[in-house]
Amino acid sequence: DKNYNDKQSILKLISQLLAERIPYYNWVGFYLVDERDGNSLVLGPFVGEPTEHTKIKFGQGICGQAASTKATFVVDDVSKEENYLSCSPKTQAEIVVPIFDKKGNIVGEIDIDSHEKAPFNQDDRSFLEAIAELLSERFW
Ligand code: SME
Repeated sequence: DKNYNDKQSILKLISQLLAERIPYYNWVGFYLVDERDGNSLVLGPFVGEPTEHTKIKFGQGICGQAASTKATFVVDDVSKEENYLSCSPKTQAEIVVPIFDKKGNIVGEIDIDSHEKAPFNQDDRSFLEAIAELLSERFW
């Protein structure tokens, strides 16, 4: 009997749905802003290979840069990105979409890695930003 009402369960369920249904979403997860320092991200629910990057400072990697700039960050080819934290050698591309609270502060982000090169288009971006907004309305 799973509880589908609490935040962690819903974030896990969304990760599972996205990873199952979209073939080029190969690692799907959430990073949440660490409320203790407000200056770093902590790994939340995810689906895919385990990652050593369980805590990421703002500014570090794709995730940390998206947090600092408060903007969606699409990387078509991670091998060309200098400021990148590798989770799997299979990863070729990444999209990170910030989640904001009602005041516009960043509270977390959706992170997706793909084994394909340049798979993310405007539809992915719009779709994931819509999910981020729904989550924000529900939980933050
Ligand atoms: N690649 C990310 C780190 C998180 S893993 O993709 C799960 C980054 O550069 O921030």
